Amino acid sequence: MLETMKTLLSEAEKTGKALPAINVSNMESLLALLDAAASNDYPVIIQVSPIELDHKGISFFEYAEMVKLFLGRYQVDAAIHLDHATTVEQCLMAMQGGFTSVMFDGSSLPFEENLRKSAEVANLAKKWGATVEAELGKVSGNEGEKGSSDKGFMTDPGLARSFVTATGIDCLAVAIGNAHGLHTTSPKLDFERLLTISKEAGVPLVLHGGTGIPAEDIRKAISRGIRKINFFTEIDRSFVAGFIEALQENPSAYLMEAAKAGQERMQEEIERKIELCRR
Ligand code: 13P
Repeated sequence: MLETMKTLLSEAEKTGKALPAINVSNMESLLALLDAAASNDYPVIIQVSPIELDHKGISFFEYAEMVKLFLGRYQVDAAIHLDHATTVEQCLMAMQGGFTSVMFDGSSLPFEENLRKSAEVANLAKKWGATVEAELGKVSGNEGEKGSSDKGFMTDPGLARSFVTATGIDCLAVAIGNAHGLHTTSPKLDFERLLTISKEAGVPLVLHGGTGIPAEDIRKAISRGIRKINFFTEIDRSFVAGFIEALQENPSAYLMEAAKAGQERMQEEIERKIELCRR
């Protein structure tokens, strides 16, 4: 069933678990996610970024309609979430189009501007009953644009309370040593900082850059207030690997066969992430 992310986050808070938030942007990847969620009886966040939609030329409305159409076949609780929106307009269009939550990513902006725009989105979201995520600090790495690799900086725990209170956001993405994309060494998470942010912020926390974080660290992060974990790169790679292997095994494989192999490989990887989030 389609839910707001807020409802799913408060359920996760009660049970001390986290929600896997997976970027999907085509039919096979959406089915991989829904099949994984259904076979594990676990709620999920179905997310996409403006970059992914632009790449395909799909509107927010079309995406939300596609998700709702397929979600209707499953007994799965899920939210439709816009990942890494960098403008207020993108957030507004997504909510108008049927997304039940949005992330306004003002992490590249000066603090005051990030705060002002995050508050603007949270205010607009009231009309739609949508959930709002914002970021304080900056998670480093590639957020989907090839070649881009931004320098990050850690979330200042001293600003967490005032940022959440002044903006009225529902959940906060933190920078605690996590980074987007593939790494040569595992990211080192600052758990002490996380615990302080969690106490100060008073809202569920979001961990971006789930790829490459060791299972033990994921569990520790969940026990210190992380309630949503974003996974993209590893899961994306699993689809591509499955697709390529199918073609290597049978060079005359049809698109539907290679895509199915990708979908199955992706589903297995998502199921591993669900296990991590369950603790
Ligand atoms: P990874 O690509 O590191 O899994 O990060 C995904 C993410 O944070 C999307 O917002």
